[in-house]
Amino acid sequence: MKVGIIDSGAGGLTILNAIHNKQPYLDLLYLADEAYAPYGDKSIIQLQDRLIKIGQFFESEKVSAIVVACNTATVASIDVLRASTALPVIGVEPAVKPAFRISKQRKVAVLATPVTAKSARLNQLIHLWKADSQVAIMSSGTLAFDIDALPETQEKIEDTIHQLSKEILEKKVDTLVLACTHYPLVKHLFERVLGDECEIIEPSEGVTAQLTRRLLDNHSDRVNALMQSKSIGKIELCSSFGTNNMKRLISWVSKPEAITTQRVVKI
Ligand code: DGL
Repeated sequence: MKVGIIDSGAGGLTILNAIHNKQPYLDLLYLADEAYAPYGDKSIIQLQDRLIKIGQFFESEKVSAIVVACNTATVASIDVLRASTALPVIGVEPAVKPAFRISKQRKVAVLATPVTAKSARLNQLIHLWKADSQVAIMSSGTLAFDIDALPETQEKIEDTIHQLSKEILEKKVDTLVLACTHYPLVKHLFERVLGDECEIIEPSEGVTAQLTRRLLDNHSDRVNALMQSKSIGKIELCSSFGTNNMKRLISWVSKPEAITTQRVVKI
């Protein structure tokens, strides 16, 4: 059983790793939509059109579900994607609910791309769950793109994280939501500056649990048989741009031995 996973670049591999770790029997088809990166500076209409095309690509690949492993694409276009395909679509929403639950000081920061930071969906979620908490919505227009270009951008990333973390510490925030799937790839750099003062929340386990629920709802016999078979699924890596970044993408996959295919797809 194959699941399609999409992000603009490497970020969604944080979700792919969690899925492969928890449900190793699934075949995973990962699309790094590098031809269109970064998503964080695109308009809502551009992202919606793009996600419809990506949905068609995954349908042609006969996947059983689509994971939009990107906060930006989720807040901008998940409704449009769902309306355009009969496949189950699982998104990544900013994990503000657990953050408000665990914040002892009632001070939370959400760090996202500019599209996510400005989105109606993020603001709705915050109003739904914040109660008496204070919340700082922060964004970076460069961090995700720079993460895709590591290690050349290491120094620039460290500077960006230093600046952001300074603001977080000044605001006495004790819980930080990483609301872009690229950011957990450099979680250790945030931890280095923020220390124990601040808990960092990322969404990969929640997304994996939601995917499993949806697959069990739709294909319970097959999923249960696969679970019992203890088989190991294969990982296919695709880029919409070219092969230049394949090595970098592979370096973020926690079980690279499961990668069977690397290909370029024109979408
Ligand atoms: N990884 C993406 C997210 O979760 C988007 C990064 C980008 O392309 O701007 O928002």
